[in-house]
Amino acid sequence: MEHSSDPNNSYLPEQIKKILKNRWLGHTIHHYRQLDSTNLTAMELAQQGAPEGTAVLADQQLRGRGRGSRSWHSPPGVGVYCSIIFRPKFLPSMAQLITLMTAVAVARAVSLKTSLSPQIKWPNDILVNDKKVGGILSEAEASPSGIKHLVVGIGINVNHTSTDLPEELLIGASSLRLELGEPVERVALTAQLFMELESFYERLQQEGSAMILEQWRSLSATLGRRVRVIQKDKLVEGIAVDVTEEGALLLREEKGSLTAVHAGEVRHLRTS
Ligand code: BTN
Repeated sequence: MEHSSDPNNSYLPEQIKKILKNRWLGHTIHHYRQLDSTNLTAMELAQQGAPEGTAVLADQQLRGRGRGSRSWHSPPGVGVYCSIIFRPKFLPSMAQLITLMTAVAVARAVSLKTSLSPQIKWPNDILVNDKKVGGILSEAEASPSGIKHLVVGIGINVNHTSTDLPEELLIGASSLRLELGEPVERVALTAQLFMELESFYERLQQEGSAMILEQWRSLSATLGRRVRVIQKDKLVEGIAVDVTEEGALLLREEKGSLTAVHAGEVRHLRTS
């Protein structure tokens, strides 16, 4: 049974490996009670030559990192805080696809292990009932010939109660437990996540991007909605009509023109 924020509550490699049925991803797990950031540790391990599929897990992060230099609130014993090392053989511009793929894998793992129906807000926020329960932060080290390694960091609010979420997050964020009304086993969820990631990654390498984009579209909470994208120096508003081959969001602006947005913060707007 999982409890709210509890430093003694762990999800251990041997528990995960016992139920993991796949070939390589997550077969090496570095587990820590407490870390600054699993992404940081995974990046160091990748630089030291750790193999593809190595996972770093923490029960608590002291400096969890979010997108856009925000922090990721990571209280002990209630979340999945996990980073995976990938060594993809394609171009750096394809890194975004692995991030979209990870969002699909997280959404699938959650829907297989709970009765929830997660959706994805572009590019990779995991929503349940329109509230954010998970996020992904990918960090790559590139060389002129391609990606040297890619660290994909996954944060899932699993068993957070409302006291585990800071006040400023209470409106837009939630946890699986809060949406479901009961706790979720982090061990089973993490094992499922590793299986989904391995299978989608292999298919992405073999079949290309079409299947991932199809899956992403079918789970998207953004497509078809009026959105505002906040970028460093401008705002773009329009109807989200599609996602491109590279994972950019395609917007139809008021005057009818199509704009591809590669980065930024999306707000879903009410349709008037
Ligand atoms: C976001 O802002 O939506 C992305 C959040 C990513 C959080 C995860 S938790 C595990 C990994 N380590 C980090 O420091 N960040 C990512």
